[in-house]
Formats: sequence, C-alpha cells, structure tokens
Amino acid sequence: MKKELSAIEAKYEAQKIAFGPMYFQSVIALRDLGILQFISENRKGVSIETIIDNVDVSEYGVTLLLEAAEVLGVVEIADNIVKISKVGFFLLKDEMTRVNMNFMNDVCYLGAKNMTDSIVNGKPEGLKVLGDWPTIYEGLSILPEPAKTSWFEFDHYYSDNAFPDALKIVFSKKPKLIFDVGGNTGKWSFACCEHDAQVRIKILDLPVQLNVARANATARGLLDRIDFHAINLLDTTQKIPQGADVIWMSQFLDCFSKEQITQILENAFQAASEHTTLYILEPFFDNQNYPAAHYSLVATSLYFTIMANGNSKMYRIEVMKELVCKAGFEVVATYPLIGDSYHTILECRKKAQ
Ligand SMILES: C[S@@+](CC[C@H](N)C(=O)[O-])C[C@H]1O[C@@H](n2cnc3c(N)ncnc32)[C@H](O)[C@@H]1O
Repeated sequence: MKKELSAIEAKYEAQKIAFGPMYFQSVIALRDLGILQFISENRKGVSIETIIDNVDVSEYGVTLLLEAAEVLGVVEIADNIVKISKVGFFLLKDEMTRVNMNFMNDVCYLGAKNMTDSIVNGKPEGLKVLGDWPTIYEGLSILPEPAKTSWFEFDHYYSDNAFPDALKIVFSKKPKLIFDVGGNTGKWSFACCEHDAQVRIKILDLPVQLNVARANATARGLLDRIDFHAINLLDTTQKIPQGADVIWMSQFLDCFSKEQITQILENAFQAASEHTTLYILEPFFDNQNYPAAHYSLVATSLYFTIMANGNSKMYRIEVMKELVCKAGFEVVATYPLIGDSYHTILECRKKAQ
C-alpha cells in the first residue's frame, strides 16, 4: 500500500513539479558542459576546486550547477568532495536515459509550454517551434537539427530492441509478402530482407517518409525486393492494397486517436483475406515490468499531444484489443514483452463472418 505523505513531504513533492523544467535544464547544462563526465572519471570523488580547474566553466557556473545536482541526487557532496551518484551514472551512461533526455530537450521542451492550448484545441500547438506542418509526421524527415536526430534515435531505440524476437514470431509462418505500414526509414523492412532471402516487402507511408525509405533501400540494393506505396491513412478514400500475407504495424497505431485507429484497422480489414495475419507491435504502458518504462510511456503520450498530432497517445493493452475487435479482427495470440523490449505483439486475424 502507498505510504501517505506528510504535509511537509507533499509540499516538497509539489515544489519538484513547480521547478521541474528548470532543474531539468540544469542537468542538461551539467552534462553538456562536461562537468558530469569529469566527475564520473574520478570515481573516488573530486574536489570542487579541481572541477573548476579542469572544465571550461566559471566558478559561479560550476558551483550553481553542482548545488542543483546535489538537490536532485545526481551527485553527492561531502567535505567539499563531489562524487557521481547512481542517478548521475544513469544520466551519463544509460542509453534509454540518453535518448529520452535528448528527445525531451531537442524535440519537446520549447513546445511543451503549449500543453493547455493543445488539449483545448486538439492540435499539436507546440509543433510550430519546429516547423509549419499540421502534424509532425509531414515534417519528420525534414525536421531541423538536433530535433531530427533526437526524434529518430528515440523512435528507433524503442522499436529496434523488439525486432529480433518480432522477426522470429512473424517468420514462423513463412510470409512471402509483408506490408510494413508506417514503415518510416525502412529499418524493419531491411531486417526482414536480411532474415529471409525470399520475402518481399511493400512499405506504406506518407510520401515525404517514403523518399527516405526509398533512398535507404537503394543504398542497400534492395529495390528488387521492396516497393513503396504512398498513402495517407487519415484519408479514408485511400485504401491499403490487397494481397499481403502479413500486415505489420509497428509503433504506428499510437500515432492516432481511438476513432482514427478504428478507421485504419477497418482499412486493413478490407485489404486482408482470411489468410492474412495482422501484427500490431506496441509498447502498452500498463504492460511493463519496470516503473521507468511506464513513466516514459506516459510522458510519450504528452509528446503526442503537444508536438505530434494533438490527439494520440500510448494505450492500455485492453483498449487496443477492443479497437481490433471493433474493426472485425480477433486477437489470436498475444506475445507480451518480447525480447529485451517494452513491446507486446498482438497477432490478429479476420473474424470468421
Ligand atoms: C512512430 S513512427 C513508427 C515507425 C516504425 N514503424 C517503427 O516502428 O519505428 C510512425 C510512422 O507512421 C507514419 N504515419 C504517420 N501518420 C501517417 C498517415 N496519416 N498515413 C500514413 N503513415 C503515417 C509516419 O510517417 C511514421 O513513419
């Protein structure tokens, strides 16, 4: 059972929220100015004077950032000696933390101020700080740096970890033709081609993304096995073609509202035969082993609100299963938390009519 906070503790927690954005930026500065790295290289601890002598930052700057870092538990300071804490170590060395922090700082931070307007208007009102598009998806491959690198590192960090086990699951039925819906840069399609020498792929995505996927496929010499189908799945007149053995949707449906997901799945339904398998790979926030994963996924929903499209989110697993059924499919197997990842695969078939 959760321990009830005292009033003093609750007031402290409330201040963490009140000053959170500024403390966040202080850690970015501590990292980007090389101060955290220097401290971590001195495992047994290092004096504040030595830090000032070795990093290119004023005494004022070092002192101030260390005071903030101590409050946050990023460093420990005793008798003028500074040591990196376990939290500091993760901030510096952990890949999930690195991609999350850069995504927050480079993609979301400035736009986050528009949270209230985004919710009221149902639009990503923060997106204007990056470019003039209705949703981030029209701008993905032309985002300004460093937002572009941080967006792709964030997206790939989460989906790449799922691919090895996902390949085993999808290829257990030896599909000959896979549709990679929302295939983005083509990473999954290339992994499929490497896994199986015969398989053919069709990548379906917005035209601006297909330019990137096509260039990547060309560089890999895969144009004879991968083709491209430009589609805007928010336009219900644009139909997914028929003929796929597998329709693959990886980290795709979370880009849409529940109503839009139902429409897209109905579109997949008209494209599917009774032999087609629809696979949905998603990180469901209520189906995670670690609190850090749950916390990160709920934060990702907030990114969808302010920057992506103003109406999508990460979902609970049962919500997605209901939408799958509503569109005429049934979930015939669930592969929870595959491999070293945060994802579940839902294997779906058309319901018998
Ligand atoms: C979060 S990315 C997922 C990429 C990849 N499948 C993965 O697992 O990493 C979502 C993809 O959906 C595409 N997308 C977003 N809105 C779309 C739309 N209305 N029609 C077609 N594709 C869309 C985006 O361009 C992007 O490539």
